[in-house]
Amino acid sequence: MALEVRRLRPAPADDRSDFRSGNIDLDRFFQRFAGQNQFRHHIGTTYVAIDAGVSGGFVTVAPSEIVVPDLPPTIRKKLPMYPLPVLRLARLAVDARYQGRGLGSALLRSVLTLARRMADELGCTGVVVDAKPDAVTFYEKLGFIRLGVLAGQLGDRPEPLPMFLELAAIPEPAGE
Ligand SMILES: CC(C)(COP(=O)(O)OP(=O)(O)OC[C@H]1O[C@@H](n2cnc3c(N)ncnc32)[C@H](O)[C@@H]1OP(=O)(O)O)[C@@H](O)C(=O)NCCC(=O)NCCS
Repeated sequence: MALEVRRLRPAPADDRSDFRSGNIDLDRFFQRFAGQNQFRHHIGTTYVAIDAGVSGGFVTVAPSEIVVPDLPPTIRKKLPMYPLPVLRLARLAVDARYQGRGLGSALLRSVLTLARRMADELGCTGVVVDAKPDAVTFYEKLGFIRLGVLAGQLGDRPEPLPMFLELAAIPEPAGE
């Protein structure tokens, strides 16, 4: 069965109880909060990667904004100084049993597609993520660059690294 990425559906359609990525905070978020954040509070939308009928991974996104001084000088040029719209990749995890099979990159590519849609319909300068140190290389493979923001901003341990992918660096979908 082909890999499918689609919006999370309320339980029992998408059973999340058995999800284990190796990161307990991400697992807890997916199991307890992703649904209510999406269906009740509308503060973030979760997409799941379905592999052979199972939710093997998820990504949660929400609109956000970035201030121009946080952007690298090459991107900063010509942009106005007020906060600019971005798509925030808030959380991403793949079940340990499914890691290394392309689910993470499929979820990340779906976020890039959402950023293009957001740019067309609402405005969006790119995608931001606070990457866990172990996942920095993973994001770099799809073109994300590191942003030089003060360490310790979020108080997490280990410190996440802010990263950014500008809209112009997102490949056009085939056929456009
Ligand atoms: C990071 C994560 C989402 C990657 O998902 P995945 O499905 O295993 O990744 P893929 O199979 O799509 O791998 C894509 C590429 O990234 C590489 N990669 C995957 N995880 C990586 C990591 N942690 N560090 C460096 N490279 C990584 C793969 O080797 C692969 O490279 P290739 O294309 O050259 O073969 C997954 O390992 C995970 O859930 N980790 C725990 C939670 C986490 O760290 N989430 C990120 C929060 S910011």
